[in-house]
Amino acid sequence: MDVYEAVTSRRAVRGFTDEPVAPEVLLRVLKAAAWAPSGSNLQPWHAYVVTGAPLAELKKRAAERITTGDPWDDAEYEQYPASLKPPYAERRAAFGKQRYGALGISRADVEASQRAAAANWACFGAPAALFCYLDRTMGRPQWSDAGMFLQTVMLLLRAEGLHSCPQMAWAKFPRTVAEILSPPEDLVLFCGMSIGHEDTTVDLGRTGRAPLRETVTFVDS
Ligand SMILES: Cc1cc2nc3c(=O)[nH]c(=O)nc-3n(C[C@H](O)[C@H](O)[C@H](O)COP(=O)(O)O)c2cc1C
Repeated sequence: MDVYEAVTSRRAVRGFTDEPVAPEVLLRVLKAAAWAPSGSNLQPWHAYVVTGAPLAELKKRAAERITTGDPWDDAEYEQYPASLKPPYAERRAAFGKQRYGALGISRADVEASQRAAAANWACFGAPAALFCYLDRTMGRPQWSDAGMFLQTVMLLLRAEGLHSCPQMAWAKFPRTVAEILSPPEDLVLFCGMSIGHEDTTVDLGRTGRAPLRETVTFVDS
């Protein structure tokens, strides 16, 4: 698979089969992803890759928190600006309409939307997950480095015939994730990522993109 195909075939997949992901594949992907760039080569990410019984336990504990109405943990970082200005607010609304519309859920049906969102904490059925942490002292450039690392992981997963879904949703439950992973106190959870084989019976459509003129300016003489 060439890079263009990896980039264009990567989607946030929200339905996985329970077919296991071979440990050697995950190791190969993580070894190659270590070549992702970072400012001054800090490599500020720390990834935990979780499968099997620990992942099942994490899903179980997260599901328990959801069913008992246990509120989210205190936010360790702001996931979005408190107020999104145009065009971002419109893009977010369009995404929500597409995502929940594909499931037949109307905007007014908050309960159904919450149920659909809850699938995040079951990793959409995926048998493997990655949790990306950074040292708490890191700043915005290093969080961006982590993004490059994560995208590298996701593209390599495509090369292995696998799919993924990056998930800030997991940052709503960092305490539960920490119960399973026991990360050092000085790390902060950025996001999770579900990893596995796509369940092709789940077709949730393709998220679009803004026209290039909105996001890119070519400057020439
Ligand atoms: C940092 C990050 C966090 C995300 N968190 C979630 C999440 O918690 N749940 C989810 O279903 N999708 C999540 N997504 C997926 C985005 O919604 C998705 O990438 C975007 O809508 C574009 O769609 P596409 O990736 O399918 O092209 C996240 C993506 C990124 C980059």
